[in-house]
Amino acid sequence: MMNILVVGGGGREHALVRALSASKKVKKIWCAPGNAGIAAEAECVAVKSDDIPRLLKFAREKKVDLTLVGPESPLVNGLVDHFRRAGLKVVGPTRAAARLEGSKSFAKEFMRKYGIPTARCEVIPNFRKGTYVLTRWPGRSVVKADGLAAGKGVKVCESQAEAKEFLYDVMEKEIFGGAGDTAVIEECLEGQEATVMAFCDGKTLAAMPASQDHKRLLDNDRGPNTGGMGAYAPAPLITPDLQADIEATIFKPFLKGLQAESFDFRGIIYFGLMITPQGPKVLEFNVRFGDPETQVVLPLLESDLTEILLAVAEQRLSGLRIRWSKQTALTVVLAAAGYPAGPERGRTVKGIRGAAKGEGVQVYCAGVGEQKKQWVTAGGRVLAVTGIGSSFKEARDRAYKAVAKISFSGMQYRRDIGAKAMEALSR
Ligand code: AMP
Ligand code: GLY
Repeated sequence: MMNILVVGGGGREHALVRALSASKKVKKIWCAPGNAGIAAEAECVAVKSDDIPRLLKFAREKKVDLTLVGPESPLVNGLVDHFRRAGLKVVGPTRAAARLEGSKSFAKEFMRKYGIPTARCEVIPNFRKGTYVLTRWPGRSVVKADGLAAGKGVKVCESQAEAKEFLYDVMEKEIFGGAGDTAVIEECLEGQEATVMAFCDGKTLAAMPASQDHKRLLDNDRGPNTGGMGAYAPAPLITPDLQADIEATIFKPFLKGLQAESFDFRGIIYFGLMITPQGPKVLEFNVRFGDPETQVVLPLLESDLTEILLAVAEQRLSGLRIRWSKQTALTVVLAAAGYPAGPERGRTVKGIRGAAKGEGVQVYCAGVGEQKKQWVTAGGRVLAVTGIGSSFKEARDRAYKAVAKISFSGMQYRRDIGAKAMEALSR
């Protein structure tokens, strides 16, 4: 029987905690910092997810058997290195390997070196050089801050002028601080986006069902970019043939690269893909579970998550058969008023319990706090409401039926999660 520590406090971590608590191998789960919703299923610890020294102290004192890290920042800052040095078992890449997410120029260089298909790009060391490089990029381009910027450091630019302006904000105005000391300009790829996550023990990749996120705030992909407003899995776009193509052209060279660079990557790898007419290309690596993709992928997992994570940590993934349900899951994110710019806090959230009772429904709490024994909004993305069903339509109907039972002042959500895929399926 194991004691497990989950690091993080969003909807993704709630889904992880719920999947882990279904395991026969688990005795106790802590979540740092967790949230008011997670507190009903795990013991929340008041330690921030990027406070590595205090997390380490806690894990040692409580004799934690396995630590699972949700967000990117502690991984990029070397949590895994510190835990391993202290003899603690942990799922996640080391600091060196986490640069695949922590630095876009580093990720692009890795892709170039190992032949992983991706957009053409140039690395920009300073603004002056950038303006010069841009003269060679006349039409649309994509400008990216090199470092972590909470999903906001990327802009698809329609013109040279727009690209120059964003590059100025990133490199001269430093709107993302040091994350913009370097930038990347890349070719704008056309196609549909998909996410493929995989368990990775450094030698083997075991794919999870492909999913699709909805990044824009408003229906029909309008409004500002967000952390993600909804998702579904499996994504019908990723046919078995395409999946085989992704494994041959992306998984294989990725593993080869890990080995050639001696990266210790025992964790979760997230491939953000563009399915172009020339085949799948990598937009980005994340070195962790996606949010909200996790809230649609984990409800489909039939195998024991703890056993898989142990196999990842002990490099035994090749011997494991992971079972996935044939159902579909679809999640709708409910966000606070003012999200993403400045979410309103402290609004009473009603109806969670009633919604969660629905057949084939999972409600995951993200920005949920407690005030006077009531649940209140405490962050941008407040809840992820997942419907699970034997068809795409059933999953979607169940999710939206559950959403209708929940309310808080200023609640924002998209009405069109999965709408395009439904349309494509009915054709
Ligand atoms: P990233 O964080 O690099 O995945 O970028 C965030 C979002 O920007 C992606 O999900 C895409 O919607 C968009 N994006 C990034 N790179 C490109 C590209 N080369 N071509 C088109 N869209 C892109
Ligand atoms: N849903 C996108 C991410 O987790 O980065």
